[in-house]
Order: sequence, then structure tokens, then C-alpha cells
Amino acid sequence: FNVPVAVNEPVKGYAPNSPEREAVIKAYKEMYNSTIDVPMYINGKDVTTGNTRTMSPPHDHKHIVGTYHLAEKSHVEEAIATALEARKSWSQMPWEQRAGIFLKAAELIAGPYRAKINAATMMAQSKTVHQAEIDAACELIDFLRFNVQFMTDIYMEQPESTSDAWNRVEYRPLEGFTYAVTPFNFTAIAGNLPSCMALMGNVVVWKPSNNQIYSAKVIMDVFKEAGVPDGVINVVFGNAGMITDTIMADPNFAGLHYTGSTPVFQSLWKQIANNIENYRTYPRIVGETGGKDFIVAHKSAVAEQVATAISRGAFEFQGQKCSAASRAYVPTNLWEDVKNHVIKDVKSFKMGSPEDTNNFITAVINEGSFDKLATYIEAAKKDADAEIIVGGGYDKSKGYFIEPTIIVTSNPKYSTMCTELFGPVMTIFVYDENKFSETLKLVDETSEYALTGAVLSTCRYAIEEATRVLENAAGNFYVNDKPTGAVVGQQPFGGARASGTNDKAGSAQNLMRWVSPRMIKETF
Ligand code: ALA
Repeated sequence: FNVPVAVNEPVKGYAPNSPEREAVIKAYKEMYNSTIDVPMYINGKDVTTGNTRTMSPPHDHKHIVGTYHLAEKSHVEEAIATALEARKSWSQMPWEQRAGIFLKAAELIAGPYRAKINAATMMAQSKTVHQAEIDAACELIDFLRFNVQFMTDIYMEQPESTSDAWNRVEYRPLEGFTYAVTPFNFTAIAGNLPSCMALMGNVVVWKPSNNQIYSAKVIMDVFKEAGVPDGVINVVFGNAGMITDTIMADPNFAGLHYTGSTPVFQSLWKQIANNIENYRTYPRIVGETGGKDFIVAHKSAVAEQVATAISRGAFEFQGQKCSAASRAYVPTNLWEDVKNHVIKDVKSFKMGSPEDTNNFITAVINEGSFDKLATYIEAAKKDADAEIIVGGGYDKSKGYFIEPTIIVTSNPKYSTMCTELFGPVMTIFVYDENKFSETLKLVDETSEYALTGAVLSTCRYAIEEATRVLENAAGNFYVNDKPTGAVVGQQPFGGARASGTNDKAGSAQNLMRWVSPRMIKETF
């Protein structure tokens, strides 16, 4: 199993006047000033339906950058049929050929497509260039490269044999087709979910988020150019309910790879359960869902580090990373210092369009998200047990802009301490510095979700205690760091409780979910 050693793609800096900055801004302007019509992609062909919806950047919602085509039921059926047909040859293709295709995709993104995929992510999802670079370029490249290595790790896992029993395991793709449902917030996740299943020999129907069509289109262009055969990954857009109903009614449905909200994942799981007798095989279900990610500072922590963990962890990409910190527990002895640093940090963040690469904060994804966040901010302005110490403003006249906002509450169960908001709103509870143990228990009890969390401390005993008490409260647990920014090949990512099945993205364990091993014993 000789494959190229996977290395993390170096993150480019986008310094003023750097070639990468000029290239990405040029690509962004070209996209902004042209209109594109995005077809679906079924059986290697662009499919238009005439039933279209417009696309606008969240930071400039009156500006139409294009349209995309919505599926009818017949298109989803065609995508399934075509995938099953493609499976006949794809599932038999030598693994090296499949690996070669996705390694090629990684190199296309690292090179000729880098500016375009970053610009598309800036346009569609309102990421700053730096956030686009670590996502659409580096994280997606890393997924593609490391998955090839993880695949070979799996294939190497073989039982013992003897002179009269040759035992071997074949890691066969699932029997049927798989379904990828991907979110708006990471172009890398959108690219990883369908491609990792396809790498393991599966065929896929992929439904990207309607808020991410522009970058999904670039991903598909890359896969096509890299040589993914017709029918192996089919892209359908539109009405999630109809698409899902059609997929799940099919007896050949063999696996769901999902990233998105908790309620939707739960309803998909129920739908699969209700139809379970009709499937040829038990469908695999893998999901990464919501989060209410925390930062706990111990009295021994360094105030400035706590402030940085809060301001970067909560506000990069407008708090819309699944890993974003949205609640923090700060001890009384550090509070004045942390407060001063964090307010200073947040006030230094410039807000505006991602085209201006000096901006740190851009718009939230859509009007629904904006309205929800504004409602919670208004409530905090009125509630006696909440105080807004920075931010609190919002304006949707041009784009869906919400100022990075910090609420301080005297009630550790205040609504914004417990409810997932998925936006740039952080809530802080200041606890008695002598009640660290009680605070850890409180964090655990209020962790309905368990995606990411962080503890900051210079005391080894406190770190040990937090790690132990919070053992089930975060699938990715950070010591003396912010809880965002997991790197493929270094920190496999995912959580349990209401945050998902914890089949870490970027791991052999995840890829194992997409194979059905066959044991062969041969005697002589
Ligand atoms: N890699 C992303 C993060 O950890 C999901 O923020």
C-alpha cells in the first residue's frame, strides 16, 4: 500500500499585494460581476429544470449572482438509478485508481482551483479570505489526501492466516447507494462527505445546502476534472423534504452521511427507522449535528489567553463554525482583565464585505439566521439577568450583519447559555473562583450537545479535573486553546450526545462506516 505520505496543505497568508491575494480578489470580482446558472449534475451531465431560484451573497443580498436549478422527483430517481448503474464498475475499480482520482482533486484545489474555490466560498458563505483558505482550500485538500492514507490503513488490517487457512478481509463498498447531505458552513465538509464515501467504492447522491450552491459547483467541477466517472457522485439541489423522501423510499438506500442541524438529523433517523423493513441492508447513519461549545477558564489561567480564546473561538466566521465557542465560564479573579481584553479585541474587529480583506467579520448566512440572532439580542437587552458588554447592533439593509456580541449573565442557565444560536453571540457566566469543581459539573449538566470545549489553566490538577469531569461533554476537547480549528490528520473531528454519532471526520473510523467487510477463508 504505497501511497504518497499525506501532508497538511500549508495555509497561505494573503498579505497585501501577494499574488494569492490578487488572484482571489480577481476571481471574486469576476464572479460578482457575472451571473452564472448552476445546473444539477446527474450521470456526468449538467441538468437544468427551468425551475430556478436566485443566489445572492449574504453580505449583499440584493445583488443576484446567479440562479440554480431545483430537482423534481424524477431527477432524484434518475440520480439514484444512474448511481446504481455506475456502481457496477466503480465498486470493482482497483483502489489505486480511486485514490488517484481524489489525490488529483486535492492537487487541482491546491493549484489551479484554489483562487476560485476560495472566492466562491467568500461569495456564497461570506467567509473572509483567511477563513475560506483554511476551509475550502486547506481543509478540503487535507481531507482528500489523508482519506487516501486512512483507506490504506483500513485495507492493511488483515487477520492471521495459517498454512491451511488463508484468511483475508475485503473491505467492500456498501450494497446500494449512499446519500450525502452537507451544510453551508464548511466547503471542506461539503467536499468531504460525498468524496470519502466514493473513495471507499460507493456511489453517491449529494444534496448540498441551498446556501452553498456556488462553492458546491466548484467542488463538482474539480471532481469531474479529476476523473470521477459519470454517475459516481450526482448532485441534486432544492427541496430537502422531497429529495430525502425519494431517497429513503428506495430499497437500495445504504447510508446517510449528514452534517447539519440536530432536529433534521433526528427526523432523518426516524424516517430511516420507519422504513427499515424495506431496505436490502441496514443503512449506515453518520451525522455531525449541533453544538453549544464551551470555554472554561480556571483561576490559574492567563487572562489575555482566555480573552483571545473567547474572541477568536466565538467570532471567526461569525460564530458559524460547528466548533465555535458560544458560552464561557470565567472565574471572578480574572474577570476584569478578561473583560477588558475581550472588549478591546472585539472592538478591533472590522465588519463588512469579504472582498475587503481587512474585514474580520462579515454577514451571517441568511435572513432566518439574522432574525433569530436579533431576537435573542433584543431579549438580552431587556432581561434583568443579562447585560450586553460589547456589540448588540445589527443591520440587514445591505447584508445580514450582526455585530459580534457578548452577553454577560448572572444565570448559568440563561437562554443563550443553553440554546444553540449559530452566530456571533457569546454568553459569559462569571463564577466564584473557588467553585471550579461545581462549575465543571454545571458545564457537564448543561451540555445537551457535546461537540467541542476548552479548558484554560496553568494548573495541571485543574486540567486533569476538567478533562475527567467533562469526559462526555465534548468530542473535541482543547487544553489552553480555543475550541475551533481542528486540522485533518491531527485532530479528527466530531462529538456525541446531541452533536452526532462521533464518527470523526478525517479518520479511518469514519471511512470504516462506508464499507461492508467480507471475510474470506480459503483452505488448500
Ligand atoms: N475544522 C473545523 C473546526 O474545527 C470543523 O473548526
